[in-house]
Amino acid sequence: MIAVIGSNNMDLISYVRRMPEPGETLAMKDFSIAYGGKGANQAVAAARMGADVLMLTAVGSDVFGRDIEAHLSAEGICGKYIKRADAPNGTASIWVDDTAQNRILIHKGANAMLDVQDIERAAEDLRKCSMIILQLEVNYDIVYHAISFGREHGVPVLLNPAPASTEVDKERVCSCAFFMPNETELEILTNHVVDTMDAIKEAGKILLAQGMKNIIVTLGSKGALWLYEGGVELIPAFAVEAVDTTGAGDSFIGCFAAVYEREKDIRIALRSANAFAALGVQKKGAQSSYPTRRDVEQFIIGDCECTS
Ligand code: ATP
Ligand code: RIB
Repeated sequence: MIAVIGSNNMDLISYVRRMPEPGETLAMKDFSIAYGGKGANQAVAAARMGADVLMLTAVGSDVFGRDIEAHLSAEGICGKYIKRADAPNGTASIWVDDTAQNRILIHKGANAMLDVQDIERAAEDLRKCSMIILQLEVNYDIVYHAISFGREHGVPVLLNPAPASTEVDKERVCSCAFFMPNETELEILTNHVVDTMDAIKEAGKILLAQGMKNIIVTLGSKGALWLYEGGVELIPAFAVEAVDTTGAGDSFIGCFAAVYEREKDIRIALRSANAFAALGVQKKGAQSSYPTRRDVEQFIIGDCECTS
């Protein structure tokens, strides 16, 4: 069982030809309301890849909250510890332009009501999990508490330090088994410009020197870079035409965790994660774009046949 402790959002997605200038009004090409939030996206991706998933999150007391709780259950995610907070559900206002770039504004809502007691309430089940996945869309004291919990009980922790922040206390997160930033997050965390592959490697090495074990940097269409004590490996992305990359990083992480739990092999898990995310970026939305395990396995077989 994989535990995801984190956010859920309802995503309000505006598709535009280009981003509006200050003071300008533009008509959208399309609009949709879809399931999102970094924690829920990662949980759904792991569940789609066949993992048993337990999610600790706080939903709102509004129509979005009730809908999301039912949706997570329909995805097969254990919602035993979902908290119903007296607050509106978390929302994300997202703009996606014709180049598939996105800009996102978050309203934390109920996500801000998750607290350390919620982890303690779930302690008995969390202790038995093979991994705890965390991100930064909930209060940091929960993230730090969950990392200490994992260390104390021998449960490996995967931290996705997103959204990017300079306020993360690196000393408190360096015991994580997996640290998975994107390029922007890596740059902000290390205060090191990452405009070339060599610069990304240097920044990754700064984190390794601080005691982190496996740093996996997602690189968009370039794939992912895995840095560990004594090695660096680039796992290239699959060549596809992206239409919306919202939730691509989350899909990569959820798939990685599910395949790693099953195969105990980081390279296999990274290749599957690239495949899962490549299928997702070709469709609109976050969870609405995520493939099934069968889609991913067929895509990988198809790629092997093409390249052999
Ligand atoms: P987001 O914040 O939009 O969820 P992210 O910035 O966290 O995304 P990225 O590094 O952009 O994450 O992408 C995550 C993974 O998705 C990449 O490592 C890669 O596997 C896949 N991916 C993203 N963009 C593309 C693309 N254009 N073509 C193929 N794969 C892609
Ligand atoms: O990482 C993508 C997610 O970020 C979106 O689904 C949105 O909810 C924001 O949390």
